[in-house]
Amino acid sequence: MRLDKYICRCTELTRSDAKKYLKRGAVLVNDELIKDPGHQVYEESKVTLAGNLLSFASARYIMLHKPADCICSNVDELYPSVLHLVEVDRAFDLHIAGRLDADTTGLVLITDDGQWSHKITSPKKACNKRYRVQLSKPIREDAAQLFEQGVQLQNEPKLTRPAKLEVLSEQEVLLTISEGKYHQVKRMFAAIGNRVVGLHREQIGDIELDQELDLGQWRYLTEEEVNSIG
Ligand code: URA
Repeated sequence: MRLDKYICRCTELTRSDAKKYLKRGAVLVNDELIKDPGHQVYEESKVTLAGNLLSFASARYIMLHKPADCICSNVDELYPSVLHLVEVDRAFDLHIAGRLDADTTGLVLITDDGQWSHKITSPKKACNKRYRVQLSKPIREDAAQLFEQGVQLQNEPKLTRPAKLEVLSEQEVLLTISEGKYHQVKRMFAAIGNRVVGLHREQIGDIELDQELDLGQWRYLTEEEVNSIG
């Protein structure tokens, strides 16, 4: 594996940050100063960054069917963290790639690969997320058009990005958005005079929630699912 990629794997650094450390001469491989980001390293290589030995544990990628009344945080607050549901070693070393509210159910992706989760959460990557939404009253006829054009959320400088609405019934819809502002889906429906009474995430990028997983259950992602995030 390339040295810059290895550094990213072992840390939360971005590729460009890793390159900066390399350029500064802060990286030793098997006690030799290396500045070339493309230098090949292996699992057993001894790599230090600014004097700290990096450890290469292969990254973990998990999907969880989140129930209500737990939170997408590494610490317990009013509700317990979703990480209690994931019975793996060092579960609290993992992080959540894209949060859901405590009362929202559905697909949550959990990993220790910061580069990978960045591709899901970075606004620049515009990763799609599809939600199934239950509404307090019938959806208005022009809703799909309004969401396609973008709506104004309170305290936001810009309109929301174009979003796709599919109407399943008067009070049930699918909404696909490519950003992840705080309470975004709830605020989008509030902006068009409706109220979300049930919210469930079905898909992130090309990764769909596995129908075999009951609420609270999890599984590792397949290699294909991991590689689909780009
Ligand atoms: N939008 C919301 O309003 N809540 C969520 O949990 C996810 C998206």
